[in-house]
Amino acid sequence: MIKVKVPATTANMGPGFDSIGMALTMYNIVYAEEIEEGLEIIIQDGNPNIPTDESNLIYKTICYFYKNIGKPVPGMRIVQQDSIPHTRGLGSSAACIVAGLHIANAMSHSFFSKEELVQMAAQIEGHPDNTTPAILGGMTIGAMNKSDMKYVKIKVSDNLHFAVMIPDFTLSTELAREALPKYVSLQDAIFNTSRAALLAASMMSGEIDNLEIATQDCLHQPYRSKLIPYMDEILEEARRYGAKGTFLSGAGPTLLAVIKNVVDFRREMVSYLGGLEQEWQVQMLQADNEGAKVWINEELRY
Ligand code: HSE
Repeated sequence: MIKVKVPATTANMGPGFDSIGMALTMYNIVYAEEIEEGLEIIIQDGNPNIPTDESNLIYKTICYFYKNIGKPVPGMRIVQQDSIPHTRGLGSSAACIVAGLHIANAMSHSFFSKEELVQMAAQIEGHPDNTTPAILGGMTIGAMNKSDMKYVKIKVSDNLHFAVMIPDFTLSTELAREALPKYVSLQDAIFNTSRAALLAASMMSGEIDNLEIATQDCLHQPYRSKLIPYMDEILEEARRYGAKGTFLSGAGPTLLAVIKNVVDFRREMVSYLGGLEQEWQVQMLQADNEGAKVWINEELRY
Protein backbone atom coordinates (compact mmCIF):
# COMPACT_ATOMS: atom_id res chain seq x y z
CA MET A 1 0.00 0.00 0.00
CA ILE A 2 1.32 3.44 -0.94
CA LYS A 3 0.30 6.48 1.13
CA VAL A 4 1.01 10.04 0.02
CA LYS A 5 0.39 13.19 2.06
CA VAL A 6 0.50 16.48 0.13
CA PRO A 7 0.19 20.00 1.58
CA ALA A 8 -2.03 22.80 0.32
CA THR A 9 -0.16 25.69 -1.26
CA THR A 10 -0.68 29.41 -1.68
CA ALA A 11 0.71 30.71 -4.96
CA ASN A 12 1.87 34.20 -5.99
CA MET A 13 1.89 35.55 -2.40
CA GLY A 14 1.02 38.92 -3.91
CA PRO A 15 3.72 40.03 -6.37
CA GLY A 16 5.32 36.66 -7.28
CA PHE A 17 2.87 35.81 -10.05
CA ASP A 18 3.50 32.30 -11.44
CA SER A 19 6.76 32.12 -9.49
CA ILE A 20 6.49 32.30 -5.69
CA GLY A 21 4.47 29.86 -3.56
CA MET A 22 4.36 28.39 -0.06
CA ALA A 23 3.17 25.11 1.46
CA LEU A 24 0.61 25.23 4.29
CA THR A 25 -0.34 22.87 7.12
CA MET A 26 -3.49 21.56 5.41
CA TYR A 27 -3.25 18.20 3.66
CA ASN A 28 -4.72 15.74 1.19
CA ILE A 29 -3.98 12.08 1.84
CA VAL A 30 -4.11 9.52 -0.93
CA TYR A 31 -3.77 5.74 -0.66
CA ALA A 32 -3.06 3.58 -3.70
CA GLU A 33 -2.47 -0.09 -4.38
CA GLU A 34 -2.26 -2.32 -7.40
CA ILE A 35 -5.22 -4.57 -8.14
CA GLU A 36 -5.51 -7.28 -10.78
CA GLU A 37 -7.22 -5.05 -13.31
CA GLY A 38 -9.33 -1.96 -13.79
CA LEU A 39 -9.61 1.24 -11.85
CA GLU A 40 -11.37 1.80 -8.53
CA ILE A 41 -11.45 5.30 -7.05
CA ILE A 42 -12.98 5.94 -3.65
CA ILE A 43 -13.50 9.51 -2.47
CA GLN A 44 -13.59 9.41 1.31
CA ASP A 45 -14.92 12.87 1.98
CA GLY A 46 -17.80 12.14 -0.37
CA ASN A 47 -17.18 15.26 -2.51
CA PRO A 48 -19.43 14.54 -5.52
CA ASN A 49 -17.40 16.84 -7.81
CA ILE A 50 -14.29 14.65 -7.82
CA PRO A 51 -14.36 12.26 -10.78
CA THR A 52 -13.99 8.56 -10.03
CA ASP A 53 -13.19 7.51 -13.62
CA GLU A 54 -10.21 7.97 -15.96
CA SER A 55 -10.68 11.75 -15.85
CA ASN A 56 -9.60 11.84 -12.18
CA LEU A 57 -6.52 14.14 -12.04
CA ILE A 58 -4.47 11.84 -9.80
CA TYR A 59 -5.10 8.94 -12.16
CA LYS A 60 -4.43 11.08 -15.26
CA THR A 61 -1.07 12.08 -13.77
CA ILE A 62 -0.24 8.43 -13.02
CA CYS A 63 -1.05 7.54 -16.67
CA TYR A 64 1.16 10.44 -17.89
CA PHE A 65 4.04 9.13 -15.76
CA TYR A 66 3.67 5.52 -16.99
CA LYS A 67 3.51 6.72 -20.62
CA ASN A 68 6.76 8.64 -20.09
CA ILE A 69 8.56 5.61 -18.70
CA GLY A 70 7.13 3.38 -21.44
CA LYS A 71 5.31 0.92 -19.16
CA PRO A 72 1.62 -0.13 -19.17
CA VAL A 73 -0.53 1.32 -16.38
CA PRO A 74 -1.45 -1.44 -13.89
CA GLY A 75 -4.93 -1.91 -12.42
CA MET A 76 -5.24 0.09 -9.22
CA ARG A 77 -7.38 1.24 -6.33
CA ILE A 78 -7.07 4.87 -5.23
CA VAL A 79 -8.57 6.22 -2.01
CA GLN A 80 -8.67 10.02 -1.80
CA GLN A 81 -9.09 11.92 1.50
CA ASP A 82 -9.21 15.60 0.61
CA SER A 83 -8.96 18.44 3.11
CA ILE A 84 -7.85 21.03 0.55
CA PRO A 85 -11.00 22.72 -0.77
CA HIS A 86 -11.42 22.62 -4.55
CA THR A 87 -11.22 25.60 -6.90
CA ARG A 88 -10.44 28.02 -4.05
CA GLY A 89 -6.82 28.95 -4.79
CA LEU A 90 -5.16 26.54 -2.35
CA GLY A 91 -3.45 24.27 -4.85
CA SER A 92 -5.91 21.36 -4.92
CA SER A 93 -5.04 20.52 -8.57
CA ALA A 94 -1.31 20.75 -7.86
CA ALA A 95 -1.82 18.43 -4.87
CA CYS A 96 -3.43 15.85 -7.21
CA ILE A 97 -0.55 16.14 -9.70
CA VAL A 98 2.03 15.80 -6.92
CA ALA A 99 0.16 12.82 -5.39
CA GLY A 100 -0.11 11.15 -8.82
CA LEU A 101 3.60 11.53 -9.55
CA HIS A 102 4.64 10.16 -6.16
CA ILE A 103 2.23 7.20 -6.42
CA ALA A 104 3.39 6.34 -9.94
CA ASN A 105 7.05 6.69 -8.91
CA ALA A 106 6.57 4.23 -6.04
CA MET A 107 4.21 1.85 -7.87
CA SER A 108 6.51 1.53 -10.91
CA HIS A 109 9.66 1.27 -8.72
CA SER A 110 11.15 4.10 -10.76
CA PHE A 111 13.07 5.85 -7.98
CA PHE A 112 13.02 9.30 -9.56
CA SER A 113 14.42 11.82 -7.07
CA LYS A 114 12.33 14.65 -5.53
CA GLU A 115 14.32 17.03 -7.74
CA GLU A 116 13.21 15.11 -10.86
CA LEU A 117 9.59 15.05 -9.65
CA VAL A 118 9.75 18.84 -9.05
CA GLN A 119 10.75 19.33 -12.69
CA MET A 120 8.06 16.95 -14.01
CA ALA A 121 5.33 18.60 -11.91
CA ALA A 122 6.29 22.09 -13.09
CA GLN A 123 6.14 20.94 -16.72
CA ILE A 124 2.67 19.41 -16.21
CA GLU A 125 1.24 22.44 -14.37
CA GLY A 126 2.97 25.00 -16.64
CA HIS A 127 3.98 27.22 -13.71
CA PRO A 128 5.92 26.10 -10.63
CA ASP A 129 4.33 28.15 -7.83
CA ASN A 130 2.04 25.42 -6.44
CA THR A 131 3.74 22.14 -7.36
CA THR A 132 7.25 23.09 -6.15
CA PRO A 133 6.29 24.01 -2.57
CA ALA A 134 3.82 21.08 -2.50
CA ILE A 135 6.74 18.70 -3.12
CA LEU A 136 9.49 20.46 -1.16
CA GLY A 137 7.61 22.46 1.49
CA GLY A 138 8.58 25.97 2.59
CA MET A 139 8.39 28.98 0.32
CA THR A 140 9.79 28.51 -3.16
CA ILE A 141 10.76 30.97 -5.86
CA GLY A 142 10.82 29.38 -9.31
CA ALA A 143 11.59 30.47 -12.86
CA MET A 144 10.59 28.35 -15.86
CA ASN A 145 13.22 27.81 -18.55
CA LYS A 146 12.87 26.09 -21.90
CA SER A 147 14.51 22.93 -20.60
CA ASP A 148 13.96 23.07 -16.82
CA MET A 149 12.88 25.18 -13.84
CA LYS A 150 15.36 26.95 -11.57
CA TYR A 151 14.25 27.46 -8.00
CA VAL A 152 15.26 28.31 -4.46
CA LYS A 153 13.49 27.04 -1.33
CA ILE A 154 13.30 29.21 1.78
CA LYS A 155 12.44 27.71 5.17
CA VAL A 156 9.58 29.71 6.68
CA SER A 157 9.78 30.73 10.35
CA ASP A 158 7.57 28.85 12.85
CA ASN A 159 6.73 32.24 14.40
CA LEU A 160 4.62 33.17 11.40
CA HIS A 161 0.94 32.28 11.19
CA PHE A 162 -1.27 32.48 8.15
CA ALA A 163 -4.96 33.28 8.42
CA VAL A 164 -6.57 31.55 5.47
CA MET A 165 -9.99 33.00 4.66
CA ILE A 166 -11.95 30.61 2.47
CA PRO A 167 -15.30 31.68 0.97
CA ASP A 168 -18.22 29.41 0.14
CA PHE A 169 -17.96 30.22 -3.59
CA THR A 170 -15.43 28.93 -6.12
CA LEU A 171 -13.42 30.65 -8.86
CA SER A 172 -11.85 28.66 -11.68
CA THR A 173 -8.19 29.39 -12.42
CA GLU A 174 -9.12 29.57 -16.11
CA LEU A 175 -11.61 32.37 -15.49
CA ALA A 176 -9.23 34.16 -13.11
CA ARG A 177 -6.46 34.05 -15.76
CA GLU A 178 -8.80 35.27 -18.50
CA ALA A 179 -9.42 38.41 -16.41
CA LEU A 180 -5.76 39.46 -16.74
CA PRO A 181 -4.42 41.93 -19.30
CA LYS A 182 -2.04 40.65 -22.03
CA TYR A 183 0.37 43.55 -21.57
CA VAL A 184 1.40 45.64 -18.58
CA SER A 185 3.19 48.97 -18.27
CA LEU A 186 6.87 49.29 -17.35
CA GLN A 187 5.73 51.11 -14.20
CA ASP A 188 3.57 48.13 -13.14
CA ALA A 189 6.39 45.70 -13.94
CA ILE A 190 8.79 47.69 -11.75
CA PHE A 191 6.17 47.80 -8.97
CA ASN A 192 5.97 43.99 -8.99
CA THR A 193 9.60 43.01 -9.55
CA SER A 194 10.71 45.25 -6.68
CA ARG A 195 8.10 43.79 -4.34
CA ALA A 196 8.66 40.16 -5.35
CA ALA A 197 12.39 40.57 -4.68
CA LEU A 198 11.66 42.35 -1.37
CA LEU A 199 9.25 39.56 -0.36
CA ALA A 200 11.79 36.77 -0.99
CA ALA A 201 14.61 38.66 0.73
CA SER A 202 12.44 39.64 3.72
CA MET A 203 11.22 36.07 4.27
CA MET A 204 14.87 34.97 4.29
CA SER A 205 16.10 37.73 6.59
CA GLY A 206 13.05 37.69 8.88
CA GLU A 207 12.27 41.39 8.28
CA ILE A 208 8.55 40.71 8.56
CA ASP A 209 7.57 44.37 8.88
CA ASN A 210 8.43 44.71 5.18
CA LEU A 211 5.57 42.38 4.26
CA GLU A 212 2.91 45.06 4.11
CA ILE A 213 4.71 46.54 1.08
CA ALA A 214 6.33 43.29 -0.09
CA THR A 215 2.97 41.52 -0.60
CA GLN A 216 1.52 44.30 -2.78
CA ASP A 217 0.77 43.48 -6.39
CA CYS A 218 -0.58 45.20 -9.46
CA LEU A 219 -0.25 42.45 -12.10
CA HIS A 220 -3.19 40.24 -11.16
CA GLN A 221 -4.96 41.19 -7.91
CA PRO A 222 -6.62 44.42 -9.13
CA TYR A 223 -8.19 42.51 -12.05
CA ARG A 224 -9.20 39.50 -9.99
CA SER A 225 -10.66 41.57 -7.18
CA LYS A 226 -13.59 42.34 -9.51
CA LEU A 227 -14.45 38.62 -9.40
CA ILE A 228 -14.32 38.37 -5.60
CA PRO A 229 -16.92 40.41 -3.71
CA TYR A 230 -15.39 42.62 -0.98
CA MET A 231 -11.84 41.35 -1.58
CA ASP A 232 -10.19 44.76 -1.16
CA GLU A 233 -12.30 45.60 1.90
CA ILE A 234 -11.51 42.25 3.56
CA LEU A 235 -7.77 42.65 3.00
CA GLU A 236 -7.89 46.21 4.30
CA GLU A 237 -9.76 45.04 7.39
CA ALA A 238 -7.17 42.29 7.94
CA ARG A 239 -4.40 44.91 7.89
CA ARG A 240 -6.41 47.03 10.35
CA TYR A 241 -6.48 44.01 12.72
CA GLY A 242 -2.68 43.79 12.55
CA ALA A 243 -1.91 41.59 9.51
CA LYS A 244 1.70 42.04 8.42
CA GLY A 245 0.92 41.25 4.81
CA THR A 246 -2.21 40.33 2.87
CA PHE A 247 -2.82 38.79 -0.53
CA LEU A 248 -5.05 36.72 -2.78
CA SER A 249 -4.15 33.03 -2.53
CA GLY A 250 -3.23 31.80 -6.02
CA ALA A 251 -5.99 32.60 -8.49
CA GLY A 252 -8.43 33.04 -5.57
CA PRO A 253 -10.98 33.34 -4.19
CA THR A 254 -9.27 32.44 -0.86
CA LEU A 255 -7.53 35.37 0.87
CA LEU A 256 -4.49 35.17 3.11
CA ALA A 257 -3.10 37.31 5.91
CA VAL A 258 0.33 36.93 7.54
CA ILE A 259 -0.09 37.49 11.26
CA LYS A 260 1.59 37.23 14.64
CA ASN A 261 -1.26 37.53 17.18
CA VAL A 262 -3.41 34.52 16.29
CA VAL A 263 -6.20 34.70 18.88
CA ASP A 264 -7.21 38.37 18.55
CA PHE A 265 -6.95 38.38 14.78
CA ARG A 266 -9.15 35.33 14.34
CA ARG A 267 -11.86 36.66 16.65
CA GLU A 268 -11.98 40.07 14.93
CA MET A 269 -11.90 38.62 11.44
CA VAL A 270 -14.58 35.98 12.07
CA SER A 271 -16.84 38.68 13.45
CA TYR A 272 -16.21 41.01 10.48
CA LEU A 273 -16.66 38.27 7.85
CA GLY A 274 -19.85 37.14 9.59
CA GLY A 275 -21.43 40.42 8.54
CA LEU A 276 -20.87 39.81 4.80
CA GLU A 277 -23.32 38.15 2.43
CA GLN A 278 -21.04 35.22 1.61
CA GLU A 279 -19.99 32.59 4.12
CA TRP A 280 -16.28 32.78 5.00
CA GLN A 281 -14.32 30.22 6.98
CA VAL A 282 -11.13 31.32 8.77
CA GLN A 283 -8.41 28.73 9.33
CA MET A 284 -5.19 29.53 11.19
CA LEU A 285 -2.33 27.66 9.52
CA GLN A 286 1.46 27.68 9.45
CA ALA A 287 3.94 27.00 6.71
CA ASP A 288 4.76 23.35 6.08
CA ASN A 289 8.52 23.17 5.61
CA GLU A 290 8.71 19.50 4.64
CA GLY A 291 6.44 19.02 1.63
CA ALA A 292 4.95 15.82 0.27
CA LYS A 293 5.62 12.57 2.13
CA VAL A 294 5.42 8.99 0.91
CA TRP A 295 4.93 5.78 2.88
CA ILE A 296 5.22 2.33 1.38
CA ASN A 297 3.63 -0.39 3.52
CA GLU A 298 3.51 2.11 6.42
CA GLU A 299 7.24 2.84 6.23
CA LEU A 300 8.10 6.51 5.59
CA ARG A 301 10.30 6.63 2.48
CA TYR A 302 10.78 10.38 1.94
N1 HSE B 1 -0.02 31.54 -10.47
C1 HSE B 1 -1.29 30.96 -10.79
C2 HSE B 1 -2.31 32.07 -11.04
C3 HSE B 1 -1.74 30.11 -9.62
O1 HSE B 1 -2.33 33.02 -10.26
O2 HSE B 1 -3.06 31.98 -12.00
C4 HSE B 1 -3.00 29.37 -9.89
O3 HSE B 1 -2.77 28.18 -10.56
